[in-house]
Amino acid sequence: MLVDALRDQTLPPRASALDLCTGSGVLAVSAGLRGAREVTAVDLSRRALWATRLNARLNGVRVRAVRGDLFAPVAGRRFDAIVSNPPYVPGIDPPDRGLARAWEAGDDGRALLDRICAEAPDHLRPGGFVLLVHSELVGIDATLGALRAGGLEADVIVRRRGRLGPLMSARVQSLEQRGILHPGQREEDVVVIRGRAPALGRRPLSKAA
Ligand SMILES: C[S@@+](CC[C@H](N)C(=O)[O-])C[C@H]1O[C@@H](n2cnc3c(N)ncnc32)[C@H](O)[C@@H]1O
Repeated sequence: MLVDALRDQTLPPRASALDLCTGSGVLAVSAGLRGAREVTAVDLSRRALWATRLNARLNGVRVRAVRGDLFAPVAGRRFDAIVSNPPYVPGIDPPDRGLARAWEAGDDGRALLDRICAEAPDHLRPGGFVLLVHSELVGIDATLGALRAGGLEADVIVRRRGRLGPLMSARVQSLEQRGILHPGQREEDVVVIRGRAPALGRRPLSKAA
């Protein structure tokens, strides 16, 4: 969904793109194939970064894969496009290591999303956009509200209904108990949300160049 949504966006010439929580690098590679000139991919996992470098090479695009926590490796930088498919499964706090770091996102599933929404505006160039994908179960309005609070124009641009994935299905009882799922609900909307910065920057560029 996010790859398709990215393909539909207009990028300026010589665009720069950032993929947060890159995993296999699929979104970073897609940004490169879409024409972004400078692509940066961030992940905490060394193995994810090696996979990203390999996938970039196999697809003939340049991606700078850097290790770190969300925006930390790109402090002070702004981008034309930011994309992220972050961990968003409600459950335990994000662990320090291990595979579960790819999906566990705290009690409400927003541990990563809230941080991305809060920091993305300071990393967008004028007219730039951030694209995020997540389940309705972790709060579409919360994402829209957080992006708007940062001065972005925010909308749901893709919505797809389907059966719960394996990770959500495995914890339906606890999700129902906590009111995240309605009793008996076994489907969810997955959405792509776009936040767009005003074409003429409204914030001073003091924090990020
Ligand atoms: C859901 S996977 C995303 C995979 C890929 N972007 C995709 O769309 O297929 C989440 C990724 O986020 C990474 N991650 C988790 N916490 C992170 C953090 N604080 N900063 C950077 N990456 C993080 C994990 O290592 C994992 O590779």
